[in-house]
Amino acid sequence: MKVLSVASEIAPLIKTGGLADVAGALPAALKAQGVEMRTLVPGYPAVLDALGEGRQVITDGDLYGGPAQVVFGKAAGLELYVLDAAHLFYREGGPYAAPDGYDWWDNAERFAALCWMGARLCAEGHLHGWKPDVLQAHDWQGGLAPVYLQRMGASHTTGSVMTIHNIAFTGSAGADMIHRLRLPMQGYNAGGYEFYGRISALKAGISYADKVNTVSPTYAKELTTEAFGMGFDGTLKYKGKDFTGILNGIDTDAWNPETDPNIATYKAPRAKTRAREALIAEMGLDPDGGPLCVVVSRLTEQKGLDLLLAALPRLIERGGQLALLGSGNPWLESQFFAAAGSHPGRVAVRIGYDEPLSHRIIAGGDAILVPSRFEPCGLTQLYGLRYGTVPVVAKTGGLADTVIPATVATLTAKVATGIQHAPDSVEALEDAIDTLCDLWADPKAYQQMQRNGMKFPVGWDTSAAAYAALFAEAAKHP
Ligand code: ADP
Ligand code: GLC
Repeated sequence: MKVLSVASEIAPLIKTGGLADVAGALPAALKAQGVEMRTLVPGYPAVLDALGEGRQVITDGDLYGGPAQVVFGKAAGLELYVLDAAHLFYREGGPYAAPDGYDWWDNAERFAALCWMGARLCAEGHLHGWKPDVLQAHDWQGGLAPVYLQRMGASHTTGSVMTIHNIAFTGSAGADMIHRLRLPMQGYNAGGYEFYGRISALKAGISYADKVNTVSPTYAKELTTEAFGMGFDGTLKYKGKDFTGILNGIDTDAWNPETDPNIATYKAPRAKTRAREALIAEMGLDPDGGPLCVVVSRLTEQKGLDLLLAALPRLIERGGQLALLGSGNPWLESQFFAAAGSHPGRVAVRIGYDEPLSHRIIAGGDAILVPSRFEPCGLTQLYGLRYGTVPVVAKTGGLADTVIPATVATLTAKVATGIQHAPDSVEALEDAIDTLCDLWADPKAYQQMQRNGMKFPVGWDTSAAAYAALFAEAAKHP
């Protein structure tokens, strides 16, 4: 089975969030399942610069007013098709936004170009003698690929899977772009790619793909409700059994407290103290403080960190501390800075994106907070489980699927792995902080919880098998 994954970011080359981790981890995870996965990615500077020797030009042409080549090459153990189109992707700034923080003006064309090339690689298998059985499209940036497959007459031979990592990003473009984006006019309707009078690349992927999945079973259920579906609930419900949830895994080699090169390695929970002390020293926190809570996150509305700001006085009052690493919303950044200023030694904040620091923070914390309003899967709570850093999470999406909440029953049965609270409520988060502090005050109970968490399987084994089965269902068998 051959699968072409179409992804707008891929770890370790280019990453803004968990999508990159998943796109980067799936090829290796699927190999054991007999699935050969290659990935088509945009030719951002970081990607082109990483391509090693032996790159091969597969096809070239012209896309949106500039030359565009697909180059095959390897980087970081990944087999990549790179869309080298300098006028679209070779720019200073992020994958989606310019250095000023605003989205690139031509995002619709940029990712339409990526999808067009993805569909061509499938439709014209002779391009590289490697003909995919299935195309996997990630998020809206891959969403037009299933439409193009159909346009190119290849949807009878190539199956398609649309993977939703986050419904909040719809890939919206004005209806006047239909021709420019090479979309079939007859698809501009509620059963196609039309969404509230505009084009939605995400809707296109959902409507045209053979199978649709998202990244946890609970988020899959939530997405079919009005409260979480953000307007896509009807379309997803209509998909019926063709829409499922498959839980993300994490890279258990990169995230292993016993071998992690970024930290003073340890066997949790007891030997975790060294990493904790190192973090306290690095962040200038109080060595005698109570439970050290950590956050590694994009600072956005989704992540519920404004709720944490509101609940922070409770954490301080209970003797707790906070170390946060994140970037995003400027208001949240400044509010966390201000909190650090008001609570020296108790709240430490680092604004920015820093992979090694994220490891030190997750290793050194007693608890990791993920108070998201919605969370398709979430990866940092999984890192927490593996590092003996107890997750305190909102009961939503993948957070609900991966944490066994502490209750009298689960504590007695010695299976609790963390704390869950109702999402979008400061009071519920304050209660969760109280529960955390109470449990932390009982080292035996706390260590039991850490040990329970470390047993939870956070790797890819089960989910890779589920993806392999999904691809097999999507493939066309002549
Ligand atoms: P999302 O994809 O919604 O941002 P996830 O929890 O799935 O949420 O994935 C986020 C990924 O990005 C994790 O690997 C996390 O460690 C990483 N991350 C987020 N913010 C930062 C940061 N400021 N520095 C380093 N890594 C970060
Ligand atoms: C998204 C979601 C996150 C998920 C990640 C990888 O960015 O917000 O919950 O873990 O994709 O699937």
